Amino acid sequence: TSDSEIFDLSPEIISMNNSIVNALWDESKEILSFLVEFKELMMMYKCAIKEIKTKFEVLDIEFKIRYQRNPINFINTRLKCASSIVNKMRRKNIPFTIENIEEHIHDVAGVRVICSYVDDIYNIAKALLEQDDIKLIKKKDYIANPKPNGYRSLHLIVSVPVYFAEQKKNMKVEVQIRTIAMDSWASLEHQLKYKQQITNEEHIAAQLKECADLIADIDSRMLDIRTQIEANSSEPTE
Ligand code: GTP
Ligand code: MG
Repeated sequence: TSDSEIFDLSPEIISMNNSIVNALWDESKEILSFLVEFKELMMMYKCAIKEIKTKFEVLDIEFKIRYQRNPINFINTRLKCASSIVNKMRRKNIPFTIENIEEHIHDVAGVRVICSYVDDIYNIAKALLEQDDIKLIKKKDYIANPKPNGYRSLHLIVSVPVYFAEQKKNMKVEVQIRTIAMDSWASLEHQLKYKQQITNEEHIAAQLKECADLIADIDSRMLDIRTQIEANSSEPTE
């Protein structure tokens, strides 16, 4: 018996198989080129994070020389992972394309700046937004207008140009600026929220809100204390 008898490879079957193979091949090529483009986009967001982080570090160094103290305690950065991007786009019913990520997902690149005092938040945000390569896309002041749960932070979506070998790309970055106290509340609240199913939800939420308000009061009192000290000391100490 010959091969063609065993497998019954009539010319029709052979041509059908070829077209399936071709279609699969085309599809894998498309997937592969999408993955390459996606990886490149993530690299660009990573660079945008570096640009913004450096801008804050420069402001912190300058401020320290002028006022003998650092307005920034620390800076955290994060790149949203692929699965979080996919989930967010699914939730918002946006087709998963490179263009749509750039257009609709504003928090792929995240920079969180933790300041000492509330006035530092606004000073540092103002100094960033006054830079002529920074474009403000959206601002949410959850300090002047806290979320109903008590969450406080200043959120900025900015666009920053990043220079690559063959192009300049304007990249969006989500900036969250908060005090140490606001950050400690947000971190714990986040942990509590995502850890388990809460049963007596309303009671817990009310307590969390109360803690957020206490923390806001402490922030404003600490700023008040600093202002009093500054008013009393004319000469800066070493
Ligand atoms: P997404 O939540 O990212 O889809 O965008 P949004 O339009 O709701 O943005 P918003 O500026 O309100 O919040 C964005 C980010 O701020 C979140 O991803 C959190 O990191 C932080 N955030 C906002 N609300 C809360 C909150 O209630 N608790 C905590 N812990 N973090 C919050
Ligand atoms: Mg987010």
